[in-house]
Amino acid sequence: MKGLLTLLSFIAAFSSVVLGQTDSEPIQYTPTHNITTIVGTWSSGSQAVVTGPGFASPNNLSFFLPENTGVSYSFTDDGFYEVAQFRLNGNGSAPNCATAVLLWAHGQYTLQPNGSITGVLFGDGYQQIQDPCTAVSSFVQAYNTTELYQSWGISQDPTLGYTLQLYQYNGEPLPPQYQITTSPIMLPTQPLRNVTPASTPAPADNIVIRKRSDASTRWGWNLGLW
Ligand SMILES: *[C@@H]1O[C@H](CO)[C@@H](O)[C@H](O)[C@H]1NC(C)=O
Ligand SMILES: *[C@@H]1O[C@H](CO)[C@@H](O)[C@H](O)[C@H]1NC(C)=O
Ligand SMILES: *[C@@H]1O[C@H](CO)[C@@H](O)[C@H](O)[C@H]1NC(C)=O
Ligand SMILES: *[C@@H]1O[C@H](CO)[C@@H](O)[C@H](O)[C@H]1NC(C)=O
Ligand SMILES: *[C@@H]1O[C@H](CO)[C@@H](O)[C@H](O)[C@H]1NC(C)=O
Repeated sequence: MKGLLTLLSFIAAFSSVVLGQTDSEPIQYTPTHNITTIVGTWSSGSQAVVTGPGFASPNNLSFFLPENTGVSYSFTDDGFYEVAQFRLNGNGSAPNCATAVLLWAHGQYTLQPNGSITGVLFGDGYQQIQDPCTAVSSFVQAYNTTELYQSWGISQDPTLGYTLQLYQYNGEPLPPQYQITTSPIMLPTQPLRNVTPASTPAPADNIVIRKRSDASTRWGWNLGLW
């Protein structure tokens, strides 16, 4: 357990480090950045995951389990953002051992001149990880890191409308997200629980993992725990 936490902390720290990147020319904003504003709430797939009070309750470190996996991001026009993710980390050799991760965090974002988005979190974010194949099958840990999204763009889907594509620190795309509303659905944009650096939340009750046949397809990108 201790070992797993240490490993996860290491992965979390490592994932925010960008390897060997050099300064590049300032971005030339193209229609993909200006077709519409990034301000609002975005959600992938069946839009089962949406930021705000319907997903996370930071006061008691709990989640309302969405009906399906997905990611959701909200951005305000004054520099705040919120992240909600429910993902399954598939395990081809042991299908019953898919790890479920629920993650919530918020903080302040900056659209960088080189086309990236950086985010500094408030430190009250947390994630719940359920691994059905380990002795301690579910636990909650703090999630706080400096986030980097290497690039982003907005396009218009003929049926689903404005679509936000975010690329993670390592260039891996997140699932495309569709604009739900231009008025962001978010919890208050301030720290929402007392956190001291190095605080370790208590273990959580198990969540129920509802597996869907399309989960492995929709979560086909390399997730990893971060
Ligand atoms: C873009 O800028 C951000 C913030 O300064 C930086 O962390 C990132 O490494 C830069 N990316 C590239 C490709 O230079
Ligand atoms: C295009 O989008 C970028 C990022 O949102 C913004 O900084 C810039 O002002 C926009 N340019 C125009 C002409 O709207
Ligand atoms: C956590 O807090 C939320 C919102 O205050 C509440 O709806 C929910 O029932 C609480 N959950 C638990 C497990 O206490
Ligand atoms: C898949 O599950 C097996 C059995 O629990 C485990 O040994 C293996 O490490 C898992 N692989 C991944 C990538 O999680
Ligand atoms: C969260 O990370 C930020 C820097 O990214 C740091 O300033 C802050 O102290 C951290 N908060 C906690 C509770 O660790």
